Amino acid sequence: MLDIIQQLEGRRGEARLGGGQRRIDAQHAKGKLTARERIDALLDPGSFEEYDTFKTHRCTDFGMEEQQIPGDGVVTGWGTIDGRPTYVFSQDFTVFGGSLSETHAEKICKIMDLAVQNGVPLIGLNDSGGARIQEGVASLGGYAEVFWRNVQASGVIPQISVIMGPCAGGAVYSPAMTDFVYMVRDTSYMFVTGPDVVKTVTGEVVTAEELGGAGTHSKKSSVADGAFENDVEALAEMRRLFSFLPLSSREKPPVYETLDDPARIEVSLDTLIPDNPNKPYDMVELIEKVADEGDVFEIQKEFAGNIITAFIRLNGSSVGIVANQPMVLAGCLDIDAARKAARFVRFCDAFNIPILTFVDVPGFLPGVTQEPRRHHQAWGEAALRLCRGNCPQGHGHHPQGLWRRL
Ligand code: HXC
Repeated sequence: MLDIIQQLEGRRGEARLGGGQRRIDAQHAKGKLTARERIDALLDPGSFEEYDTFKTHRCTDFGMEEQQIPGDGVVTGWGTIDGRPTYVFSQDFTVFGGSLSETHAEKICKIMDLAVQNGVPLIGLNDSGGARIQEGVASLGGYAEVFWRNVQASGVIPQISVIMGPCAGGAVYSPAMTDFVYMVRDTSYMFVTGPDVVKTVTGEVVTAEELGGAGTHSKKSSVADGAFENDVEALAEMRRLFSFLPLSSREKPPVYETLDDPARIEVSLDTLIPDNPNKPYDMVELIEKVADEGDVFEIQKEFAGNIITAFIRLNGSSVGIVANQPMVLAGCLDIDAARKAARFVRFCDAFNIPILTFVDVPGFLPGVTQEPRRHHQAWGEAALRLCRGNCPQGHGHHPQGLWRRL
């Protein structure tokens, strides 16, 4: 019996090494944590229960039968954050570049199914070169299974993606379908294909950073909801984001104990908003003063700054904030702001998070940058989301505010 236990421990040790010490060192040299270190940083200590540690691929082409690595490039399982459960997968770049094989996809699909069945969120830590080239269409079939589950889980459980390495092809289509996408600056990329292929196909010369870096996606494309300096910060912030969310659409968000008295009078609000309507002020400061203990988690902070979307707590309960920001474009509403607000309101509506709007807006931004880009449709979408929302809504508005409760 002791023999068997020792054998098992040996195999576990082998699985923990993933693609080997040389590749782990290379991962560390780039300032990245390994797949398992990331899980440890994300979850409560000792809470992780792993599945399918020894699963390997079934490919026999290109000499792959000789290269069997236990776990097949992804660590999957469940654990807790502040005592609340979540399913997690963490792709291991040291194993075939974290690429997705048929069996790698099966491991992810298994925890996606469990997450939906049990009404528990799913967090993906993505670090993958996309479809495993050696497997061809079997790998693409695996992606089809993952994408289908992303769609089925949408609006049922919160799905969070953290892009923590160079993610290409299918490795970015799935995160793009999830509720929140975060990136790590300088080490993570999201693109359909990298700069070399772009140069061959379109003749464009572009760096990886310009094409799909954290700056591009958090400031320009808005595919990413935010970017962090390193893995540790990103994972700590995911714990914070998680604290605002319910486990599923069947539940209410958690209520946290607060030392902030709900009857607190904030006298500084009397002077924060200037009497002169042409004078800007910082709406984030106002939100901080209203929020429990000044704790504000902004979503898409670096995109469409003329509108603010954020989570706060009031008397310990999560609230979604949608607010105009007079400091940017005088708080005018444009297409980007519409898309940002609509996406956020849709999430809050699906997950029973009440919405509080702070309104101070001179109106829509007119002009040639707007009308030809489906301005009306974008705002129609935002209005629809707010009006159809079943979650409780409240609003505060500045006397000039045009946008009350759309
Ligand atoms: C198999 C892969 C791989 C892949 C990387 N590797 N991507 N193995 N399939 N897709 C392996 C490399 O061979 C290498 O193995 C190790 O991972 C690290 O890769 P490097 O290239 O050395 O790392 P880096 O320089 O950091 O570049 C990372 C990268 C690059 C940008 C991701 O590897 C790359 O461009 N990979 C291919 C991306 C791609 O074309 N994917 C398919 C997209 S199509 P060794 O043994 O040397 O450590 C797709 C279809 C989706 O996904 C369709 C859905 C329906």
